[in-house]
Amino acid sequence: MKNIYLVGFMGTGKSAVGSALAKKKKWRFVDLDELIELREKRAIADIFAKEGEAHFRRLEKKALKEVAKEKKFVVACGGGIVIDEENIKIMKDSGIIICLKASPEEIFKRVSGTTHRPLLKVQNPKERIELLLKLRSPYYAKAHKCIDTSKLPVKEVIAKILKVVAGKNKK
Ligand code: S3P
Repeated sequence: MKNIYLVGFMGTGKSAVGSALAKKKKWRFVDLDELIELREKRAIADIFAKEGEAHFRRLEKKALKEVAKEKKFVVACGGGIVIDEENIKIMKDSGIIICLKASPEEIFKRVSGTTHRPLLKVQNPKERIELLLKLRSPYYAKAHKCIDTSKLPVKEVIAKILKVVAGKNKK
């Protein structure tokens, strides 16, 4: 097993689960958005505002390619990474993809009060969440395994991921 990639919509717990999972496995953890901000020396919101989403997606792919060269990383990916076929291939070739899911209501609850997500800075974020979830669900389904985190504590999500990883290692 090379890397574990956590994908899924904003607010599904990728960063919280990812950092705890990395600690448990004694692997390193990277949040891809944080890596992009570090490399670019500015916030994601600033990249979206100045150069737009397409440019952000190019930087996201570049960061993913950088991490894919590594081993034993738990990678928390941005919610939109899956909409690019090549990104899916890069992740599948260099590890396992776990998709974290949550209901639109739960996602709305979790992201309310946060201000750093440009795609949700709209008049009706709840509607935007529902629309994006619908558009993206076929892409999220390409993960090796999907886990609903709506009602699960981080510890239980990690236990489920470890089971999937153990099964994959046997093959
Ligand atoms: C995005 C999700 C964000 C970040 C960017 C775009 C998306 O990451 O990459 O704002 O397209 O869903 P999180 O999923 O970590 O919030």
